[in-house]
This record gives sequence, structure tokens and C-alpha cells, in this order.
Amino acid sequence: MSALIQVKNLKKSFKIFKRNPGLKGAVKSFFNRQYEELCAVKNCSFDVDKGEIIGILGENGAGKTTLIKMMVGLLHPTSGSLLINNYNPWERKNQFLKNISIVMGQKNQLWWDIPASESFLLNKSIYNISDRDYNTRMNELVDLLGVREKLNIQVRRLSLGERMKMEIIAALLHNPSIVFLDEPTLGLDVISQSKIRDFIRKYNRENKTTFIITSHYIKDIQELCERVYVIHKGKELYDGNFNELIKKINPKSKLSFEFNEEPNQDFIKELKNTYNISLINNQLFIELEDDKIKNLLTQLLRHSSSRKFSIEELPVEEAMKAFFTNPDLFL
Ligand SMILES: Nc1ncnc2c1ncn2[C@@H]1O[C@H](COP(=O)(O)OP(=O)(O)OP(=O)(O)O)[C@@H](O)[C@H]1O
Ligand SMILES: [Mg+2]
Repeated sequence: MSALIQVKNLKKSFKIFKRNPGLKGAVKSFFNRQYEELCAVKNCSFDVDKGEIIGILGENGAGKTTLIKMMVGLLHPTSGSLLINNYNPWERKNQFLKNISIVMGQKNQLWWDIPASESFLLNKSIYNISDRDYNTRMNELVDLLGVREKLNIQVRRLSLGERMKMEIIAALLHNPSIVFLDEPTLGLDVISQSKIRDFIRKYNRENKTTFIITSHYIKDIQELCERVYVIHKGKELYDGNFNELIKKINPKSKLSFEFNEEPNQDFIKELKNTYNISLINNQLFIELEDDKIKNLLTQLLRHSSSRKFSIEELPVEEAMKAFFTNPDLFL
């Protein structure tokens, strides 16, 4: 069976007007228009299966939103091919539009001056949703996201988090099989972020809906996306398991061990020969590869009666920063 989403050698370039600096330059540019080409997405290829949650990662300006806009048919690709649920998004056929949805954290899609409940009714009629389906879905979504008492308040009076939840409900009422979420938790507090994540996870599990997500909050990606597609300056860098990528970038963990008494100096010397350690007030810190932890810990426990230790993975944000600074080092 072919994949639900098939992206092949997709490319998008924008023609941008080149403006010369200063007033003189502006006048000159006005009479002699010069353009340059900006290639926002370069030869991206990937498939997504039904029920997957895939995270699209990349720095600001990497091309994530451009990629999503092509997948929903808002932008025409410069070259390459794209099949979403067997439709060419650019044709914007009704059957295609009924099967997808897009939520953008930085764009308001609900009507500002009317309550969300009325925008929902509008969607009901646009998507031709039956009364029965509408009532069941709307009530379920409203309760899952906990916004029942906000339904009849003008959207512009809602908080950012409440509005985002309403946006998500509006996007799911017609039961699309693919949902694109472009920074759905942008600007939300940690509790709202985590509520939205829990909701997406549960919804995906129960409905087998496919989610394509972008987010700069690494926690969203860690908790939701087993698989990530990483782009850098429009180019594909990585397609695969997120944890494996992090381990590849940063294979080390941090072990801290607290001695009960001042440790034997010879033993510390011996450790220094093999590991990169630091000892502060009887507390030992070592960064080392996961497969060496067991060995070292056995050694430490043999030398000390202390049982106070912890093993922490190094921060994922740091790993991603290192990756984007010099991707060639890790691939
Ligand atoms: N309509 C447009 N015309 C000209 N250039 C554009 C247009 N849309 C996007 N770009 C450029 O394409 C590049 C990719 O933009 P895009 O919005 O896809 O990045 P992004 O990965 O979504 O970034 P962010 O994380 O900041 O949202 C940027 O350099 C941007 O300036
Ligand atoms: Mg974007």
C-alpha cells in the first residue's frame, strides 16, 4: 500500500525584489527592478503513513512553514511531486480539503468578533457535517480540551491558550485524516502546552489521525514525535527516530556520584586516567558514553558505601544547537 503522504524532490523558490540601500538606491531599484531567487525548500523527499505523528524540525527560516503550505495546497511547488491522500494539493479539490486541516500558531483562523461556537457552526455547514456527527464531535472535543464555558465568548476576548484550543477544535470537527500543526503551542504556558500535547497524543491513538507538527519547543517533539524530519536552510538533514538522532549527536550521559567520605586519592587518580571527571566537595561528575556507565558505577560502588548517584542525559536543546551549528559533524 502506498503511503498517505508522498513528497518527492520538492522544491520551492521565491523571487524576491532586490532593493538597493538609501534613497538613491530606492529610486534606482524602482526604475530598474532586479530580482533574486531564494530557495526556501530544496529537494525534500519523505513518505508518511496513516496514523504517524511526524515532527518537522529546523531553525527559523529553515523552510518548515513553506513545506507545510505546499502540502496543504497554499503554495505551488517550483518543482517535484506531492501526493496527499492520493490528491495533488495544488488542485484544492473538495475531497482533498475535506481530508486535511491546518492550524497555525501564529495565525488566527477563527472569526475574531464572534464566539468560537458560531465559527464551529460555519465549519459544520462548509464541510457538510451531519447534525449527529457535529454534536458528538463538538461535545467530545470541547470536553477533552476543557473549554465548554468559553464557547460563547467572542474569540478576541479569549486567552491565547483558550483560542488555540478552539482553533484545534475547529480543525478537527470535520474529522480530517491528516492534520498539519504549525507551532500549535507557540506562546502558551507550560500547563497549556502539556494539555495540548496530551490531547494530540490521545486523539492520534484513538482516531489514527496523521499529524505533521512543527514546534520550537523540544518537549512537544520529545513527547509526540517518534520520527522527525529535520531541514536546514531548506535541505533535508535527517529523517528518522528522534531519540536516535539525539544519541548520535550526543552519545554521552552525565553521572553524578556523592561519596559519604573523602574519596581515596589513588582511586580518584586512577579514574582521572580513564575519564574526564570533576570532583567538587566529595561529589563526582563524569560525562561518559552510556555503555561505560555500568562498569564505572560498579567500580564506584565497590569503593564507597554511598548509594547516592544519578544518571542524567545531557539536555536535548544543547544537542540540537550543536547539530544545527555544524550538521556535517554528525551525519
Ligand atoms: N512568500 C514568501 N516570499 C519570499 N520569501 C519567503 C516567503 N515565504 C517564506 N519565505 C522565505 O523562505 C524561507 C523559509 O521560510 P519559512 O517560513 O518556511 O521558515 P520556517 O522554517 O517556517 O521558520 P520559522 O521557524 O521561523 O517559522 C525564509 O527565508 C523566508 O524568508
Ligand atoms: Mg514557520
